[in-house]
Amino acid sequence: MKILIINGPNINMLGIREPNIYGSQTFKSLQEFIKNSAKELNIQVSLFQSNHEGEIVDIIQSAYNVFDGIIINPAAYTHTSIAILDALKAVDIPTVEVHLSDISKREEFRKISFISLIAKKTIYGYGFDGYKMALEYLKETL
Ligand code: DQA
Repeated sequence: MKILIINGPNINMLGIREPNIYGSQTFKSLQEFIKNSAKELNIQVSLFQSNHEGEIVDIIQSAYNVFDGIIINPAAYTHTSIAILDALKAVDIPTVEVHLSDISKREEFRKISFISLIAKKTIYGYGFDGYKMALEYLKETL
């Protein structure tokens, strides 16, 4: 099983950005955590991060006929990007949406997610563990 993991803008700043919300662990340690979780579950993963909406659209398009599932933390694009929603609809690959923080308990604008319109499941508020939960979900359901 091949899963594409996409992290959106500013996720590469983990460890530096708003540690009161996102914790003090770095992006590098998130990547290690995801790789180790995937190994445990016997899942093949590719990791991608970009701060650019168009690059995220491009990587989703290139996943067509290549990956069995997508795990995406679209970060701020969650709340704005119809382009990313449409790309996920176009490739029609089972997708899980993950957020580190509990977006239901933050600003009003974070309660709106365009990506949840296509996501099979949305996991938020579990920090790094949310990515492992997403891998487990895809393993069970695919
Ligand atoms: C986030 C939540 C978003 O609202 C925010 O813009 C992010 C990160 C999260 O993982 O909690 O950059 O997706």
